[in-house]
Amino acid sequence: MLKTIELLLKDIELFAPKDKEDLEFFRLKFLGKKGEIVGLFNKFKEIEPENKKKFGQAINKLKAAAEAKVEFFKGSFETVCSLEKIDLTKPVSLDSFGSRHPISIIRGQILNIFSRVGFSVSEGPEIEDDWHNFSALNLPKEHPARDMQDTFFVQTNPDKLLRTHTSSVQVRYMEKENPPIRIVSPGRVYRNEAISSRAHCIFHQVEGLYIDEKISFADLKQMIFYFAKELFGKKTKIRLRPSYFPFTEPSAEVDVSCNICNANGCGVCKNSGYLEILGCGMVDPNVLKNCGIDHKKYSGYAFGMGIERIAMLKYGINDLRLFFENDLRFLKQFSSI
Ligand code: PHE
Repeated sequence: MLKTIELLLKDIELFAPKDKEDLEFFRLKFLGKKGEIVGLFNKFKEIEPENKKKFGQAINKLKAAAEAKVEFFKGSFETVCSLEKIDLTKPVSLDSFGSRHPISIIRGQILNIFSRVGFSVSEGPEIEDDWHNFSALNLPKEHPARDMQDTFFVQTNPDKLLRTHTSSVQVRYMEKENPPIRIVSPGRVYRNEAISSRAHCIFHQVEGLYIDEKISFADLKQMIFYFAKELFGKKTKIRLRPSYFPFTEPSAEVDVSCNICNANGCGVCKNSGYLEILGCGMVDPNVLKNCGIDHKKYSGYAFGMGIERIAMLKYGINDLRLFFENDLRFLKQFSSI
């Protein structure tokens, strides 16, 4: 009798079911009402009293082993079963909706403002060549202004780099289209910067370009003023400061009145009442020439801004890294916008 129990125990130990049916067959064979273990218990009466203890312990061990086996494999088949039972047509629960990333929200708002006055969206590659990112934009090799945009080069090909701005898209567009040109270029850009609360090696930009006959700096100023009021509110004022970019002449940086303190001065605007939002200028005739556009007939303006910066100003966010961490506690705050 003990020999039989030992053989059954071996069977149990070696058993590995192929599927749910196999497991059920095993369960009935050992643990069912007419199964081996019940059969053994029925024979218990016939055992001599002095062997009852040993025999009882052996059957209990056998039963525990069979139960453990069933329990162990039951779980693995259950997941497959429950997956089969998922109703794919069931409507999603409304409280588990995701939210738009703040960068997408602001990107959408910026593009919307410009599309209302006739700009269309143009996008280009993130891995660029030297010509489109630098040389065509009046930044020949060894030009010191390249230092303004610390660059990630592709190691195996010194001509390839991760674009440092989306001005490269403007070059591509001017090369293949004739004026009038009115485009905005959103996209991810890369700079070799140490990551901190104010800088990151990846960020997003929207750059704009307007080329036609007789375009002047007054047109640029008016467009920026319209944009600032649409984005930050009707009472917003702008301020232009002379600046330098190799691809525009003259160039300017634009500040908007601080909407947190109504230009009265606060911690965010460092008591100046103004916050910098973008760079701009009249496209350098040399850049037009590089892109095959008649610089005597046409003129134009360009501008560029960082989306993270605008989002930080609009939402009062003080650490740039939050945009890249995907912390749900941060992202959920934008779910109702
Ligand atoms: N390309 C510039 C930058 O990334 C921004 C800019 C665009 C400035 C167009 C002037 C005109 O810093």
